Amino acid sequence: MTQHDSHDSHARNALVVVAHHRTDSLTAHTARRAVARLEAAGYRVDLLDLHAEGFDPRMNEADQPDWSNREKPYSAEVHAHMRRVLDADAIVAVFPVYWQSVPAILKGWIDRVWTYGFAYGRSKPRLAGKRILWLGLAGATSDDPVVAGIQSILETNLSEGIAYYCGFSRSTVALLTDAEERPQRVDAEGNLRVGDAVAGTAREKQYAELDERAREFVEKFAADESAVSA
Ligand SMILES: Cc1cc2nc3c(=O)[nH]c(=O)nc-3n(C[C@H](O)[C@H](O)[C@H](O)COP(=O)(O)O)c2cc1C
Repeated sequence: MTQHDSHDSHARNALVVVAHHRTDSLTAHTARRAVARLEAAGYRVDLLDLHAEGFDPRMNEADQPDWSNREKPYSAEVHAHMRRVLDADAIVAVFPVYWQSVPAILKGWIDRVWTYGFAYGRSKPRLAGKRILWLGLAGATSDDPVVAGIQSILETNLSEGIAYYCGFSRSTVALLTDAEERPQRVDAEGNLRVGDAVAGTAREKQYAELDERAREFVEKFAADESAVSA
């Protein structure tokens, strides 16, 4: 966790949520860079690595909503996560795109933590005014026609279905395509065609470009004035 001690009321807080099982993944690398960018922009950052913290994405009885009681006390684990969400002015979720969606661990975090009575179901939403950046790494290459569909489905699911439903004032889906070193495409016969691995300077260029696109997304998000609530 990268939490600073200072309690400057003007400082903005960001919660960076990482959903990847490997610390040497491109996703984890992108998350670390996002943390550095946010800190450079003056944010206090709370880094939530769901795998490292052992988050269990499975819904359970303690955390399942009771539609007749929005004050239901959920598990202590979920309440601790709610606190971290409440403390954040801005949330950045960094994840690999899995089946045109978020990985199960991130979906389960939303299922269990962004729950009834906390994230929705109140006349005054507790998450109102917060902003979120969904930074998704996709194996698809930028010229693959499937990319427009991924962008659209993620916006419908994550921005409309989740963030705006929970009162967020802004939700941005930022897709980082070309996250694989071997370009993949399904041909007309349904076969997965895996191209040659990009190597040497071409590979460095590919990753530098991905870093650059991620930097632009994060800096734009960090600079958003609506985050200043003090
Ligand atoms: C289960 C699974 C599902 C995937 N689904 C998609 C997908 O729907 N679209 C896509 O572009 N890439 C998909 N990919 C590729 C990942 O997005 C890609 O491997 C990842 O972003 C690479 O980042 P990483 O090295 O940090 O894992 C999938 C990969 C896995 C393992």
